[in-house]
Amino acid sequence: MKCAEGGNMSNGRFSHLLRGVWLLWLWQAVSVVGTGSKLWEVPTGPFTLSSASNLSEGLHWEPHCQHHHLQDGVRITAHVPPRLDGTWVSTRCEVRPGPEFLTRSYTFHPSRHFQALQHYYADSGCEEPSYSLMVRGKIRPRQASWLTRGGTEAEHHLNKVGIVVHSLAAKQRLTSRLPPTCVDLSLGRAALGKLYELYNTRAGRGCLTALGFSMLEMDLVRVETQHHGHGGKVQELFLGDIHTDWTQRTQYRPTGYQQPLQNAMHHVHPCPVCALVYRSSEQRPPVLPRSPAAALSLAGRWVSQHCETRPNVLFLTRDFTFDPDQHAWEGVYRHYSDPSCSQPTFTLRASGHYAQGNPSVKLSGASEFVFKVTEVRATAMDEPTAKLLNGTRPGKCGRAGRWEVGAEQDLTLTDGCTVLGIKLPHKEYELFKMGFDHRKHPLLFVGERPTDGSSPDRPARRPTSFQAPMVLCGGEAAQPAHTGFSSRQVQPAAGGTGRPTRLGLLVFMSALCSPLFVY
Ligand SMILES: *[C@@H]1O[C@H](CO)[C@@H](O)[C@H](O)[C@H]1NC(C)=O
Ligand SMILES: *[C@@H]1O[C@H](CO)[C@@H](O)[C@H](O)[C@H]1NC(C)=O
Repeated sequence: MKCAEGGNMSNGRFSHLLRGVWLLWLWQAVSVVGTGSKLWEVPTGPFTLSSASNLSEGLHWEPHCQHHHLQDGVRITAHVPPRLDGTWVSTRCEVRPGPEFLTRSYTFHPSRHFQALQHYYADSGCEEPSYSLMVRGKIRPRQASWLTRGGTEAEHHLNKVGIVVHSLAAKQRLTSRLPPTCVDLSLGRAALGKLYELYNTRAGRGCLTALGFSMLEMDLVRVETQHHGHGGKVQELFLGDIHTDWTQRTQYRPTGYQQPLQNAMHHVHPCPVCALVYRSSEQRPPVLPRSPAAALSLAGRWVSQHCETRPNVLFLTRDFTFDPDQHAWEGVYRHYSDPSCSQPTFTLRASGHYAQGNPSVKLSGASEFVFKVTEVRATAMDEPTAKLLNGTRPGKCGRAGRWEVGAEQDLTLTDGCTVLGIKLPHKEYELFKMGFDHRKHPLLFVGERPTDGSSPDRPARRPTSFQAPMVLCGGEAAQPAHTGFSSRQVQPAAGGTGRPTRLGLLVFMSALCSPLFVY
């Protein structure tokens, strides 16, 4: 068993909730092992590809609102170890913490060699390419992940990284970040559109670090296959998450995932971005078409599309309801112990108020928000969790001795719950964005959680990237705004949407102190 990550838990940067969840996890692992159940079929030693068993999982997560465009009738399987062969591409302009904007096209060969193409952009729509990286290396799956159930740990080796710079502005920005020479590249004399070697096995590591570049995302892999009713299938490649703290990202070993790439042969239709990315090369980066800006309209109920994985052993689904007239919000977080969200552990129902702030300066098209959580209710969904909460000291987490499976308890009376790391009231600085899926249904992107488990409880910690988008179930549909304009001068319509900053509410909320809450 890998225990290195466990050690991080004591360094104080982890929130109490993660510590609490970690305790729950250990508790459950121990209790399950104790009863000899097969729930935790995590190999303790390395497997080899030839001896790998058929660990295809049947995933049966039912979305909590029945809506025609949710994944009804779709069966999902995930093989351990995953079959990586083929080309996998971005389905939209991706946002990484920073923010960084990119598209990716990764090709894996049966020999386990890979070629990863990353195109970076100056803008949040991936319309202005800055530079492209051509990465060549080899990947070797090692073992099923102990920390992230359903994931496979892998090792990679980089042979070469090449760079092509696409614009003068990008060249200037790179000059300020990179050493004067990197293997084959001297930025002062570099020509646009030409491939230079930035790194090989003998030199250039400092150049990769200066770029904030690593391929540690390859250390955690998962492939999901969605089998659709009509015989079609969609395959998604989940690679390890990127640390939200820039200084950590070249060392961080992932325990969660980024948004998946889709298989170039088996992707959702239509996917114009997939085709552009698939046909791109390091010399010809994909220039994504301008997508209609979505007016930010939160009204209604939004739910996760899939079972979501958070760094450090959290599987959950989210279910949000917003009432813009009252500035009121409720979020239901259903936690599970497995990557198919079939074994519930506990549910949190949080509510409070929110205020929309200004359009984001860093991320065009996104808006800043402040959330205040005033009330949290919790329900233990399995025996081990009920027992753990039941054993807390009186006054620390609801009514001690009264916890039962399935019975909701109000944590507001005890100002939160120490073992779950919830302290009330609590305030968070958020970043929201809206978009559309391939069927033009509205999507809501909520800010990524800090990877270290802390809370974005001050403006400097406001997210610069997003979690998996949520879909609207019922309620009002968002309207594409200003689709008639295509000029680059047009204000991003998704920004303020004309709703003034609720200064009064913001001031009121600033007055509240708010140490820890993880959502
Ligand atoms: C793996 O499991 C699937 C579904 O349970 C089955 O259809 C398939 O034949 C199995 N493959 C092997 C190699 O056992
Ligand atoms: C919770 O504690 C009370 C009092 O100690 C006990 O009677 C009850 O059975 C416990 N419930 C659970 C689910 O452990």
